Amino acid sequence: MNSEPRRVEHQQTDRGNIPVYAVGTVEQPWSRYSRMDHDVWAQLFRRQREILKHRASREFLDNQERFGMSADAIPKFDDLNAVLAKGTGWEIIGVEGLLPDQVFFDHLANRRFPVTWWIRKPEQLDYISEPDLFHDLFGHVPLLLNPVFADYMQAYGRGGVKAHGIGADALMNLTRLYWYTVEFGLINTPEGLRIYGSGIVSSKGESVYALESEAPNRLGFDLERIMRTRYKIDTFQQTYFVIDSFEQLMEATEPDFRPIYERVASMPVFPAGEVQSSDRVFHRGTGQGWLKSGDV
Ligand code: PHE
Ligand code: CO
Repeated sequence: MNSEPRRVEHQQTDRGNIPVYAVGTVEQPWSRYSRMDHDVWAQLFRRQREILKHRASREFLDNQERFGMSADAIPKFDDLNAVLAKGTGWEIIGVEGLLPDQVFFDHLANRRFPVTWWIRKPEQLDYISEPDLFHDLFGHVPLLLNPVFADYMQAYGRGGVKAHGIGADALMNLTRLYWYTVEFGLINTPEGLRIYGSGIVSSKGESVYALESEAPNRLGFDLERIMRTRYKIDTFQQTYFVIDSFEQLMEATEPDFRPIYERVASMPVFPAGEVQSSDRVFHRGTGQGWLKSGDV
């Protein structure tokens, strides 16, 4: 058999955290997970399922249940893939860490979702600066079973390949869209706002903060507005964008982005926490506890 896949993490340097990328795909070394790895999964799984009961969107919770994931053990990619194959034709592939943009886009464009094979350490239960198995599996995989969201993710991958060919600014605009939808999106439902973003559902603190804190803004989804909005990577978000449905998301992102990228290129960029007069405001944040610096 081949050797143990690598655990590729960011590097701590005197100039801060530098992300490190890995390219290949790996088999999930399931039999080599330790008792500690399974325990970390169990703790995170139980904790988030409880917190998300009335906070995550129905689509997220119901689809997660269809996979039969449980606290008992880290799920096997093969088992999840059997469910995905029948559902929406997506496939999970194992990776060692962050992928370069182009590689990531190519996988999505072909309905392959990269999942980090390794899980965080017990001292990282509350925070980790890069995606690990818990974030990727628990957070991203459930909605790949939703037919509309499944198509959105593939369209995003194709759009990424295209944006990459256009230039760095287009890529930045597209990355912001991913950030404010796939990672940190909220959805409006008859019961109130709910979470669907993977970055939120895989975080205990942000699951509560995103919905219940007075601090952040909650604004209606607006494609061009999002493309112009900076974001935070190492603190909770200052603004969340709310969609009405996955169909709305799909429709808004259907058109060719080329003319939109061109238009947006000559317009000002917004700080992460600023509300604009044209915004549809669900909640105007108090801004309590915000760091002014550090927008990406
Ligand atoms: N319509 C987008 C484009 O032309 C592709 C896309 C779809 C991007 C969905 C993101 C999400 O680039
Ligand atoms: Co993610």
